[in-house]
Amino acid sequence: MKPIKKIGIITGGGDCSGLNAVISAVTKTAIRKYGIEVVGYLKGYFGLYHNNFVQLDMRRVSGIMHEGGTILKASNKDNLFNYRMEQADGSVTYEDVSDVAIENMKKEGVDALIVIGGDGTLTSARDFYRKGIPVIGVPKTIDNDLPATDVTFGYNSALTSIVDSLDKIHTTAYSHDRVMVVEVMGRHTGWLALEGGVAGSADVILVPEIPYDLDKVVEKVKQRDAEGKNFSIVVVSEGAKEKGGSVHVREIVEDSADSERLGGVGEQITARLQKMIKGHEVRYTNLGYTQRGGMTSQFDRLLAQRFGVMAIDLLMQGGAGKMVRYKGRKVTHVDLEDVVGSGDVGETSKGGAKYVEPEGQIVQAAKSLGICFGE
Ligand code: F6P
Repeated sequence: MKPIKKIGIITGGGDCSGLNAVISAVTKTAIRKYGIEVVGYLKGYFGLYHNNFVQLDMRRVSGIMHEGGTILKASNKDNLFNYRMEQADGSVTYEDVSDVAIENMKKEGVDALIVIGGDGTLTSARDFYRKGIPVIGVPKTIDNDLPATDVTFGYNSALTSIVDSLDKIHTTAYSHDRVMVVEVMGRHTGWLALEGGVAGSADVILVPEIPYDLDKVVEKVKQRDAEGKNFSIVVVSEGAKEKGGSVHVREIVEDSADSERLGGVGEQITARLQKMIKGHEVRYTNLGYTQRGGMTSQFDRLLAQRFGVMAIDLLMQGGAGKMVRYKGRKVTHVDLEDVVGSGDVGETSKGGAKYVEPEGQIVQAAKSLGICFGE
């Protein structure tokens, strides 16, 4: 392999806390330990295609580690292997423009890429590797649904934010004897609802993996009333489904690896519960993008920086075509070929997502605590 003198960083997919920590760790290690140059492509693969990048140096990455978002901006579209082109006559075609990106890299002397993203972004990373570009992938998603890693960065920060919101919502629920329905993200898996709900003292948790029956939710509210606890908190995952029902699709985003955008199931549930429950006002809060932004939690700062250091170490030691991951409290790596590209479930890996297990320890512990799953 040609010696690596200059690398490019890309952040793709939806943003989350910890991206800047990876960017900063990669850049600092690349410069201090290996004496190589670093650039950051702007807006994910869009920047690679348009050769739009910024120089990353010690000064540029100073003070960004703890901040949410990405200084490089991100895009969850722009698959360069199937790129949307609008023609002069208004028609749309899809073309493979990956060679343009490779030419851009050659022109600028960029020898390798570190790509931070979910399944869609990392599938393209694998495809660039297949075309001979040394690539290392770094997995991210707040949904924590990648089986190849015990945890992704971004998830813990989102959980922290959910628990903080639930603590706040509790006080109004209590003061007004209300039933509060709180919708959280988690496209096809219920980790955020489950772990956020247990940590945030939810009374009901509805996740995609356990289809719900609203009558059971009403029963739980009545049970709490009978115990003299005149308020209830219902945490619902955006991907939650009623028994025999389907997910609530908010919109379809063309060009996205997973085009369905969910959201709004909590609002529907609120309207129905209001009709079914006597003696309580039922209110709805969608935590939405507050879960993806803000300061990075201590756990994610540590994990994201460890991922960043491992990514550049691997690349410089000839380990291209890998994705870093966290397994058994250690940062290790796995072949990109083995973990990306299913395209079936959003930001997930080959073989499907890492789903909440209805019979697993956390759900069982939650049930022992009296939490209802709408069953
Ligand atoms: O997969 C991460 C995620 O934050 C999901 O939880 C959510 O459904 C989705 O991204 C939202 O994507 P967008 O930024 O396109 O609205």
